[in-house]
Amino acid sequence: MAGSIQETLAKLRSEIERHNRLYYIEAEPELSDFEFDRLLEKLVALEKEHPELVTPDSPSQRVGGTITRSFPTVVHAEPMLSLSNTYSLAEIEDFHNRVVRMLAAEGGQSSDMVAELKFDGVAVSLVYRGGLLVRGATRGDGMQGDDITANIRTIPTVPLRLDGPRNILGELGIADVEVRGEVFMRREDFDRLNDSRPEEDRFANPRNATAGTLKLQDSSEVASRRMYFVAYWLKGLQDESADHLSRLKTLEKLGFDTGGNYRLCHALPEIAKFIGEWSEKRWKLPYETDGVVLKLNDVRQWERLGATSKSPRWAIAYKYPAQQAETFLRDVVFQIGRLGTVTPVAELEPVKLAGSTVSRSTLHNFDEIERLGVMINDRVVIEKSGEVIPKVVSTVLEKRTAEARPIIVPEVCPECGTSLVKPENEVSWYCPDERDCPAQIRGRVLHFASRDAMDIRTLGKALVDQLVSLRLVRDVGDLYYLQQPQLERLDRMGPKSAQNLLRALDESRTKSYDRQLYALGIRHVGRATARELANAYPSLDMLVEAGEEEIAMVPDIGPVVAHSIRDFFSKPEIRELIQKLRDAGVTMRSSEKKELVNRNFEGMSVIFTGTLEHCDRQKASDLVMERGGRIVSSVSRKTTFVVAGSEPGSKLEKAIKLGVRVISEDEFEAML
Ligand code: IVH
Repeated sequence: MAGSIQETLAKLRSEIERHNRLYYIEAEPELSDFEFDRLLEKLVALEKEHPELVTPDSPSQRVGGTITRSFPTVVHAEPMLSLSNTYSLAEIEDFHNRVVRMLAAEGGQSSDMVAELKFDGVAVSLVYRGGLLVRGATRGDGMQGDDITANIRTIPTVPLRLDGPRNILGELGIADVEVRGEVFMRREDFDRLNDSRPEEDRFANPRNATAGTLKLQDSSEVASRRMYFVAYWLKGLQDESADHLSRLKTLEKLGFDTGGNYRLCHALPEIAKFIGEWSEKRWKLPYETDGVVLKLNDVRQWERLGATSKSPRWAIAYKYPAQQAETFLRDVVFQIGRLGTVTPVAELEPVKLAGSTVSRSTLHNFDEIERLGVMINDRVVIEKSGEVIPKVVSTVLEKRTAEARPIIVPEVCPECGTSLVKPENEVSWYCPDERDCPAQIRGRVLHFASRDAMDIRTLGKALVDQLVSLRLVRDVGDLYYLQQPQLERLDRMGPKSAQNLLRALDESRTKSYDRQLYALGIRHVGRATARELANAYPSLDMLVEAGEEEIAMVPDIGPVVAHSIRDFFSKPEIRELIQKLRDAGVTMRSSEKKELVNRNFEGMSVIFTGTLEHCDRQKASDLVMERGGRIVSSVSRKTTFVVAGSEPGSKLEKAIKLGVRVISEDEFEAML
C-alpha cells in the first residue's frame, strides 16, 4: 500500500515539476493556471495525509509558510565579486585588448568571450549538497550574506534537486555544488505587485521590489510574488568543464534557466554586434536587462588573470544608456492623494519614448523640483530606465527663454482651499483637511473600490466624482447607505447600472477580511501587510484594541507601520466609520478561526519585562498568542500578569504599584 502511495507521490511531483519547467522556462505551458493549481493542491492534500512521505524536493515545499525572524549570516565559499561597469564601447575595446595582451604574455591562449545579458535583479548564491538545495543566500558585502533559503525555495525556476544525466551529476554525495545567478521580477508581475501596494509605498523599479521581497519574513508572501531565477555561474561538479560556455549548458541540463540569450564571440566585432542587437531587442523581453556581461570563456584563465579588490579582470559589464527624450514643460498641476499628499505633476508636450507616448510625469515633491531647478516653459529631459513611469531628469538651461516661470508651492489646497502644511522631516506638503477635502475622499473611495481591495468594478472615477461632489458620499461607509432613486438621478446612470452597483456593494460586505482591512486605506498597509494583520488578529475589534508594540511583533510589520495603524484607529472619525460599516453588515472578521495550540491564555493580557533566559521576547510573545492570549504594551489594572526576567524595568514597579500579579520565567513556562 505504502509503495503505491509513494509511487503516486513521485509521479505527481515529477508531473508538477515538468509543468513548472514548461511554464516558467520553456514558456510553453500545457495546463491552465487552474489545472496546475489543482495538481498542486492534490499533492499538498496527499502529503498532509502522509506527512512522513514529504521530501525536501517536493514542489509542495515551494508554497512557503515558514516565518523567518532574522536571517543568519553566511560566509561565501568564494567571494561574490561585482563587475566593473562601462557605458562606452571604447572601454569595451580597451578591456578586450588588455585581456588579449595579458593572455599573449601567458603563451597566447584563446581570448574567446561569452556575451550574456545583464539581468537587473539581485545576485544570490545557491548551495546543493548531495544534489539537494540546502542553502540560498544573498550576496551581502560579497564576503558574507544573509541565509534566505526559505524564500529562495519558493522561486519556481530554482531546482530543489539537481537533475541531469549521470555523467554530469557524477557522484553528488561529497562536495557542495554552488550555483550563482540573479533573482528578478518580470515587469508584469512587478506592476501587479505595485498595484496592490499603497501609493506611498510603491517600489520604484523591479530590482528594488525583488530586493525587498527576498528579505520578507513570511515565505508564503514571497511565493505569491512570482520571482524568477536565472543562473550564470557554476562550481563544484566533479568533472567540471573548463570553459564558461559549457558550464552554462551544464546548468541548463541540471534544470536551471540561463535565459538562453548568450553567445560565444571570437573577436571584438562580434561583441559589438551582440551589444548592438540587444540594445533594442531587450525591450521585448518580459523582464529588465540593463546591459551585456562579457566573460572570458576559458575558465582556467580566470584565476591567472585574477581580480582587483572588487571585480575580476576577466569580465566586464557594458551598460546601455537610459532611454531619454527632450520635451517642453507646459505646466505643473497639483494632485491631492488619498492621504492628503500634494504631488506636483508635469504636463508635457507629448513625446515618444521607449515605445510609448509620454505627456505627463510626476515631479514627486518640491525638493525634487528644487534639485532639478526646473521652471514652467523649460525644455526638459525625461528618462525611462528601470522605472516603469518616465521621470524628468534634467533641465536644458541653455534653452531657457524669458517665458520661464517658477513653480510655486500653492498656499492652499487646490481642491478645498485649506492651508497646506509641511510636517517636519518630511519632503511632502499635505492638505490637513482629512475629513472634508473632496480629493482625499475621492481617493479613499477609489482605493476602497480598487481591485485588490473590495473590487467593486462598477464604482469608477466618473461615478465617484459625482457621488462626492453631490455629498452623497463623505466616507466609504456612506456607500452602503446609497438608495436606488438617488443613484438613478446621476449622470450616465440608468436603473440597471444603479442596480448593478447596489448588488456589487452588497456582495462586498462579505469580502475576505484582509481585503476589507486593506480597503480601509491605512497608511503603509498594503495587501501583504493586511494579510499578515488578518492572520494575527482575526477580527477588527482585536486589532483596534492591540497595542503598538504588540502589532510591531507581527511578521514583516515594523515600528513605523505599527505606529501608523495605532494612529489610524485612535481617531474618533475612524471609530465612527467602523461603527457605520459594521451597522451596514460589513463583516470585518476572518471567517475561519486561526487554529490555536491550546487555550491556556485565553482572555489574558500579558506583559514581559527584563531579559528572559530561555527564549527571546519575540518567541515568548508568539507562545502567548498561539494560546489565545494577548501581549500588551503598558501595565494597567486590566493586565493579567507581568512576566519578569532578569533586570526588569519600570513595568515591574508599575505592576507592583497597581497590584498586578508578577510571575517568573519558570512559572510562565509551567503555564505553557
Ligand atoms: S557575473 C564575477 N553575469 O551584475 C562575476 N553578473 O556587477 C559575477 N549580473 O552582482 C557576476 N547579470 O548581480 C554576472 N549575466 C550576468 C549577470 C550578472 C546580472 C549582476 C550580478 C552581479 C552584478 C555585477
